[in-house]
Parts: sequence; C-alpha cells; structure tokens
Amino acid sequence: MLSIRNVRKTFEAGTAGAHTVLDGVSLHLEPAEFVTIIGSNGAGKSTLFAVIAGSVFPDEGSIILDGRDISREKEHQRARGIGRLFQDPRHGTAPGLTIEENLALVYSRASGRFPLSLALRSADRSLFRQVLSRLDMGLEDRLKTPVGSLSGGQRQALTLLIATLVPPKLLLLDEHTAALDPVTAKKVLNLTRDITAAHGITTLMITHNISSALEMGTRTIMMNKGRLVMDLRGGERAGLSVEDLLARYKTTVHENLDSDKILLDVEKA
Ligand SMILES: Nc1ncnc2c1ncn2[C@@H]1O[C@H](COP(=O)(O)OP(=O)(O)OP(=O)(O)O)[C@@H](O)[C@H]1O
Ligand SMILES: [Mg+2]
Repeated sequence: MLSIRNVRKTFEAGTAGAHTVLDGVSLHLEPAEFVTIIGSNGAGKSTLFAVIAGSVFPDEGSIILDGRDISREKEHQRARGIGRLFQDPRHGTAPGLTIEENLALVYSRASGRFPLSLALRSADRSLFRQVLSRLDMGLEDRLKTPVGSLSGGQRQALTLLIATLVPPKLLLLDEHTAALDPVTAKKVLNLTRDITAAHGITTLMITHNISSALEMGTRTIMMNKGRLVMDLRGGERAGLSVEDLLARYKTTVHENLDSDKILLDVEKA
C-alpha cells in the first residue's frame, strides 16, 4: 500500500547549519495496516509525514502509494489520496463556515459539484446528521454552528470525520489528540479506531503517549535521529508494557526516550 524507500532529507544543506533529519528511512505498510510511531523530540517523525504528504521534498528516495510513485507529485495532487491531521484542532476545517458548509465542501470537492454554491439539499442534511451522530457529541443538531466556535475536541472529531468522509488511501495522524484533555483524547482515539477499521484505511499515527502507541493498531515503530530503530508487531509487541517498551528503546539506542511529553503521558497512563 505504502512503500517509503531510502528517504533522505538534509535541511539547510551546504551551510554550517546543515542537519540531516531523515537518514535513509525505508518502510512498507500493508493495506489497512494501522502503525503507531514514537520517538524523541526532533527525531524526524513530522518531517517523514511532510515528505509523504508532499509539503517537503526528499533529497533522495521515493514514496510509492498504492503502486504509484508519488515522489514528484505536488502536495495538492497527493491530498486527494492522503488525509492528514495535526495536533492543532484549527487545522483542516474552515472556522468561518458552519458545520454543514464544511461537510458540503468535502462532498463538492469529491463529486466535482461547484463548491460554495452550497445549494444544500435536505438529502445532504440528513446524511450529515447521520454521519455527525456517529461522533456522539450532539453536533448533528448544530449544523448551522460555525466551526470556529466549537471546542477543541469537537473540532478535532469533526476534522477526523471530514478527513475520512471520502476515505483516503492513507491517513497521517500527527499527535492529533495531544492538545485535548484526557477524556476527549480517549474519545477521539476511539473514533479514530472505529473509522479507520470501518473503511480499512491504512494509517500512520505519531504519538507521545506510549500506552496509546501500544493499544492502537497492530504495529509500533520507533524513530531516533532520522532513522527507524525499532519495528514491533505480532507476538513481539503483544503484551508489551509501557515500561518494557521504554526499556527496549534504551537497550537499542543507548539513551532514554527523551521527551517531556512522554514522561507526562507515562504518569497519566
Ligand atoms: N523546514 C525546516 N527547516 C529546517 N529544519 C527543520 C525543518 N523542519 C524540521 N526541521 C528540523 O528537523 C528536525 C526534526 O523535526 P521534526 O519536526 O520532524 O521532529 P519530530 O520527530 O516530529 O519531533 P517532535 O516530537 O518534537 O514533534 C528538527 O531538528 C527540526 O528543527
Ligand atoms: Mg513532530
């Protein structure tokens, strides 16, 4: 489904500030596979997503999605097949538009209907109510509410819905629950699991929460200094505790997984 082949990226190459952020990353994902990614701050996780999505071009290597080499495609060309969520719930929806207008935009883009004519039909509205009710946040009764006035959790749940309404080939989640309170984060994670499973969406999820990394999906990879240093699945991953994982990391890279966020999450877990 997704093959990343020997991707390298050095920022500010040729200057004194040159730093290699992706140092020969290769990764293969099967269709419908859900893989979690953990790693220290600055390990290159978000840059890997940027390279897959096309907002950063690699110096070397290629990205193959669904059998097609997309390495040279621009970000907007790839966006049709790749959904992406960020930590900040303000990404991915238009704040000045209502919930129904945001949903209508997705459908109009997918169907080629003229955008923002937004001649919303009652058939659309009943469909929107139906999909929104899946979020279990009461948003189905707030179709006319501007998205900018929703809470962070409501807005992130809506963003997830919007990103998957027309199921993408690949979903990239970059700490998409990190800015939410623990109860809402859990809810959005459960939605993430349900939606990706229902549509068989191949998913990569970056998280600093080690227990989420082990609970979600079927495979966990770790990054350190621009490299994939560990790839756990099957029996090797099953039954692994947060402490086991941190210990494995330490034995492999000879340093602690150094992130303030990770330590906080271990306390919460
Ligand atoms: N556009 C850019 N120009 C220069 N350096 C960059 C750029 N984007 C990222 N970097 C650098 O690349 C390194 C990796 O950043 P990246 O955001 O990929 O890390 P990360 O693993 O996502 O970390 P975190 O867990 O803190 O989000 C950092 O040193 C960062 O400063
Ligand atoms: Mg990051």
